[in-house]
Amino acid sequence: MKHVILTGFMGCGKSSLGVKLSYKLRMALVDTDKEIEREQGKSISGIFEHEGEEHFRQLETAYIEGLKERKSPYVISVGGGTPMRQENREILKELGIVVYLRVKSQTVYERLKEDTTRPLLQGDNPQEKIEHLMKIREPFYEEGADLILNADELETEEVLKRIVNYYKKRQRQKQRG
Ligand code: S3P
Repeated sequence: MKHVILTGFMGCGKSSLGVKLSYKLRMALVDTDKEIEREQGKSISGIFEHEGEEHFRQLETAYIEGLKERKSPYVISVGGGTPMRQENREILKELGIVVYLRVKSQTVYERLKEDTTRPLLQGDNPQEKIEHLMKIREPFYEEGADLILNADELETEEVLKRIVNYYKKRQRQKQRG
């Protein structure tokens, strides 16, 4: 157990919270979507469009698998779809403590209604798409998580505090054996 992994639906705040958490814990940040975009030299939308979602999912799994090699601890923010594969849930658990940032579908809609970078939410009726996907995904997020926080009902500082406290508690437990 060494890294802290942030999971949750698109728009739940993984990336922005990841930045703040990395400052607090003094750990470097890895945003898997951004790393995949950098390695592939194209946007997530571009990968979905040209190579397809399945190819993106393979890149995602390969990327998190590669994180097992890292020696120092990181805050890792993963894409909203990452915990859907059982294989990925197992990798994430192996990497460290997994935090699920739960938010309401309405929150996601308000945050992402103008967004053009999430291929899964483009087209007609994004609100329906969000509700539908969220319902399917919720059990997988829960199953893959060590800590679940209702991120849109708590102040950001409180979310950060709870993650830091949980992480420290788990570190102490580990040291005691
Ligand atoms: C996805 C979420 C996105 C990105 C891709 C697919 C998903 O990441 O990985 O568009 O399946 O939920 P964010 O959760 O950071 O938006």
